Amino acid sequence: MGREFIQTIFARRSIRKYTDRPVSKEDIRTLLEAAMAAPSASNRKPWRFIVVTERRTLDALAEAHPYGKMLYEAPLCISVCGDLTEMEQFWVQDCSAATENLLLAATALGLGAVWLGVYPNQERVAAVRAILGLPETVTPLNLISIGYPAEEKEPRTQYDESRVHWEHW
Ligand SMILES: Cc1cc2nc3c(=O)[nH]c(=O)nc-3n(C[C@H](O)[C@H](O)[C@H](O)COP(=O)(O)O)c2cc1C
Repeated sequence: MGREFIQTIFARRSIRKYTDRPVSKEDIRTLLEAAMAAPSASNRKPWRFIVVTERRTLDALAEAHPYGKMLYEAPLCISVCGDLTEMEQFWVQDCSAATENLLLAATALGLGAVWLGVYPNQERVAAVRAILGLPETVTPLNLISIGYPAEEKEPRTQYDESRVHWEHW
């Protein structure tokens, strides 16, 4: 906890190359628990998670996503989706908070991951919906490609003073 957790935040980088090693059921469970611990407007938790480990589904997602070709090598993909059966004004924020928690948990477990944007690109939404068999009421926000890293990236803060305004613009 404390400072060590802040270091995990800086260590989270987009990892797009993976080894063959599969991710254990236990670690997948931890990723999902971290995601579901995120804040959610009125605690409505509209998030749903599609966990994909089957090779042919991973390949189909890789083919469908123009910037998701690393899924051809990834042993695991989790799609964070919003269930919009009822009006969910803040579903994008809720699902994004869950996604960031998942990415940080992946880093803490020694996994590498990258967020692949789906919503609001309607072409990608339709393709992912078809591959994963999502009902019309469920919208995929992203695909998270996950595996044990086969590339190393430096932790960094990206702190930029010019983007900070104190008291007023
Ligand atoms: C909404 C969103 C969509 C993204 N889509 C893609 C994507 O389609 N393909 C990809 O390789 N990376 C994607 N990324 C990852 C960014 O490229 C990455 O976060 C950024 O370059 C900063 O690098 P870092 O994650 O290592 O800090 C996406 C990130 C976000 C937040």
